[in-house]
Amino acid sequence: MKTTAKIALTSLLLPLAAGLAFAAPATENWDNHCTKCHGADGKGLTKVGKKLNLKDYTDAKVQADLKDEEMCKVINAGVMDKGKEKMKGYKDELSADEIKDLVAYIRKFKA
Ligand code: HEC
Repeated sequence: MKTTAKIALTSLLLPLAAGLAFAAPATENWDNHCTKCHGADGKGLTKVGKKLNLKDYTDAKVQADLKDEEMCKVINAGVMDKGKEKMKGYKDELSADEIKDLVAYIRKFKA
């Protein structure tokens, strides 16, 4: 009886733990994958970011010009410019939900 209860509890908790392990919070994903170009503050003023002429995500006009679907598409597929990869796509590393969360995260940079 005790064992059965333990097994039941484990089978309840395991998927929960697995889910937590796979879906990193947007803050963490942003820090790990995006800050080296877009900057921790989203202004794109890093060394690489300046070279790539990145947009300032704290700028209300920049935010207004961006569409959620477009942002999702870019994070999924990346950005190519004349056959050269400017930003890689993250669809293999991040789940659809994580990408959606990153879009929401970028929206919060707006001053
Ligand atoms: C190697 C540098 C680099 C990294 C790393 C990078 N990006 Fe980008 N990102 C770019 C470039 C370059 C563009 C295109 C800018 C342009 O064409 O104006 C871009 C464009 C975007 C856009 C489309 C809107 C825009 O600014 O034009 C979004 C959204 C975006 N990046 C999000 C992310 C997210 C989220 C991550 C991390 C998962 C990330 N980027 C990582 C370089 C990078």
